[in-house]
Amino acid sequence: MKGIVLAGGSGTRLAPSTNGVNKHLLNVYDKPMIYYPLSVLMLGGIRDIMIISTPEEIPRFQEMLGDGSAFGLTLHYKGQSDPNGIPEAFVLAEDFIGYDDVTLILGDNIFYGQGFTTLFRRALANHRNATIFGIRVKDPERFGVVEFDENQKVVSLEEKPEDPKSDFAAAGLYIYDYRAVQIAKKLSYSSRGETEITDLNKEYLKGNQLDVQLLGRGFAWMDAGTHESLFEASEFVKITQQRQGFKIACLEEIAYYMGYLSKNALYKKGEGMKKTDYGQYLMEIANRKHTEQYWETIDKNPILELVQNE
Ligand code: G1P
Repeated sequence: MKGIVLAGGSGTRLAPSTNGVNKHLLNVYDKPMIYYPLSVLMLGGIRDIMIISTPEEIPRFQEMLGDGSAFGLTLHYKGQSDPNGIPEAFVLAEDFIGYDDVTLILGDNIFYGQGFTTLFRRALANHRNATIFGIRVKDPERFGVVEFDENQKVVSLEEKPEDPKSDFAAAGLYIYDYRAVQIAKKLSYSSRGETEITDLNKEYLKGNQLDVQLLGRGFAWMDAGTHESLFEASEFVKITQQRQGFKIACLEEIAYYMGYLSKNALYKKGEGMKKTDYGQYLMEIANRKHTEQYWETIDKNPILELVQNE
């Protein structure tokens, strides 16, 4: 399974903050926005990941995340010159995907909730052709809307409909087989001048090959694309972290619990940032007595649950 984080776009809704910097490098409380979608892919066990952004911004992502080895990942980078729509990611990543399955996550989407790791891993394991994630929202007209029947079979999909047929938005997380590349190439542009991920999903739906996985009540799904939503996401992360004493989307911590990083490497990483709460946190985890015990249970999953809820 390959992973893609789509972190392009012009970020005009976050000006002036984004006049000189890509929005996915802005902070969501105590870490860059892109850490959050990356953490989701990591929790799914996906390690071979392509980050797609504007060609000018790629060097900044490279500076921040390097080749990924600091997190036990292999990172690839690809420039997207114009924001031509989400499906273009598959065309740009054609060679990278090859004949593998691929999971795409939008760079400003934050997923957080009990049981998410299990649910996501199950979706990855049971995946057939295309899988999308549906979640109830108050304002479905702002999103791709998925309508399904009582057996959770998708009935219709619409992009930002004026009159939504359901209250369920399609979140910015999608799993496909390699055919997504060829389908993406054939899509036409919508009225907003982009190809639409909803149109790609409709192609799978036509062949009865689209599954929806619902994210339940109490699940937090946020995008951080406006000042308001960015601030709210930061507040959410801050409050949750302070209450629980765990960090959300701490990539080094996840890498450690996944067995990609040694205790020593984790400690050193923390030491290098020891003036920050983030660095202190890494050192503290490395010093925990019971880590080995947690680590042995990864496959049975409790620690992955803990990590995601941290
Ligand atoms: C995009 C998709 C939409 C999806 C949303 C999730 O919308 O087109 O179907 O529900 O991401 O964040 P956009 O952010 O381009 O408005």
